[in-house]
Amino acid sequence: MKRVFSGVQPTGNLHIGNYLGALRQFIELQDDHECIYCVVDMHSITLPQDPKELRSHILDIAALYMAIGIDPKKSIMFVQSEVSAHAELGWILTCSSYMGELSRMTQFKDKSKGKENGSIPTGIFTYPTLMAADILAYDADIVPVGNDQKQHIELTRDLAIRINNRFNKNTFVVPEGRFMKEGARVMALDDPTSKMSKSAENEFSRISILDSDTKIKKAIMRATTDSDALVKFDIENKPGISNLLSIYSAFSGTPISDLEKQYDGRGYGDFKKDLVEVTINAISPIREKFEEIRNSHELTKVLDDGRERASVIAEKVLARVKNDFGIGR
Ligand code: TYM
Repeated sequence: MKRVFSGVQPTGNLHIGNYLGALRQFIELQDDHECIYCVVDMHSITLPQDPKELRSHILDIAALYMAIGIDPKKSIMFVQSEVSAHAELGWILTCSSYMGELSRMTQFKDKSKGKENGSIPTGIFTYPTLMAADILAYDADIVPVGNDQKQHIELTRDLAIRINNRFNKNTFVVPEGRFMKEGARVMALDDPTSKMSKSAENEFSRISILDSDTKIKKAIMRATTDSDALVKFDIENKPGISNLLSIYSAFSGTPISDLEKQYDGRGYGDFKKDLVEVTINAISPIREKFEEIRNSHELTKVLDDGRERASVIAEKVLARVKNDFGIGR
C-alpha cells in the first residue's frame, strides 16, 4: 500500500480553499492508502502566535480532520511537535539545502516582501526544509496538497534526490505531490487575483468551514464579479466568476462547461443563490460534527494513539538517515 502524508497549519480555522484543495483528498485516499495526517504546529510558530489561541487551534484542526471524515481507525492523526523526529530531520535537511533555493520559494518571497534582512524571521526562510522533513520522515509516496505547495514539494524531491545521490543509496523515498483538478487554488472572494487565506484581514474574503449559513450567504452574495453578467469561465478577463465556477464545480461535481450551459442567460444573481445552497449543503454537516468531537475525550485518545504510531515510523526512518550521515554512534 502506498503511503500518504499531509499537514495543515493550526493558524486559524480551515476555509473552503483548504478543504477543496487538500482535505477533500485526505478522505479520498484513506480507503486504499496508508495515510498520515499531521497538525503542523511547529510551522505555525515561524510567525508569532498567541500561545492560548494556538493550543486551541491545534485541537480545532484535529477535530476538523475527524469532522470532515478522517477515520482514526484507518489513518494516523497527530500533532507535529509531539514527534521530535521532525525537528531532528529538519536540521539534517537544512544542512543539505542552499540559501539560493530557499530564497527562490515564492511563499518566502511573499512573506518577506518589503522587509529588511535584519527583520525577516529565519523560520520563514527554513520553513520548507521542515516541511520536507515532515514528508521524508514517513517515506511518504504521495502528498495531497493545494497548488500553493507545489514548489515546496519540488524542493522536498530535490533534497531527497540530492542526498540519495550523495550516498548512492535510497536514504529517502522521493515523494510526489497530488493536486485536485478543481479547487487546487481557490481565490479570495473579495479579490480573485490573490489566493484565499486564513489570515487575510477581510473576513468576507473567505468562507471558513465553521461559518454560519448567514455568513456564507453574505460572503458569496458580495463576492467580486464583473459587470457583463455572463456566467463563463475566463480566468484572464473574468477571474471573479471563474473562481466561483471552480468552487461550484468542486462542491457539486458538475463540470464547469455544464454549469456554463445551465446558467446561460440567467445572470449572476441566480448563480450565486444556487452556489450558496451548494456550499451550505456541503459544509454544514461538518460544522455539526465538529461541535460534537471538539470537546470529546475521543479526540485526546486519537491524538495520543496517533503520536505513538507516527513516532514508531519516523524514529525508524531517522535512525536510517543518521546512520547514512554518520551522526550518532
Ligand atoms: P496550509 O496550512 O497553508 O494549508 C493547508 C492545505 O490547504 C491548501 N490550501 C489551499 N488549497 C486551495 N486553495 C487555497 N486558497 C488554499 N490555501 C491553502 C494548502 O496547499 C495545503 O495543502 N506548508 C503547508 C503545511 C505543511 C505540509 C507539510 C503539507 C507542513 N508540512 C507536509 C503537506 C506535507 C501549509 O502551510 O499549508
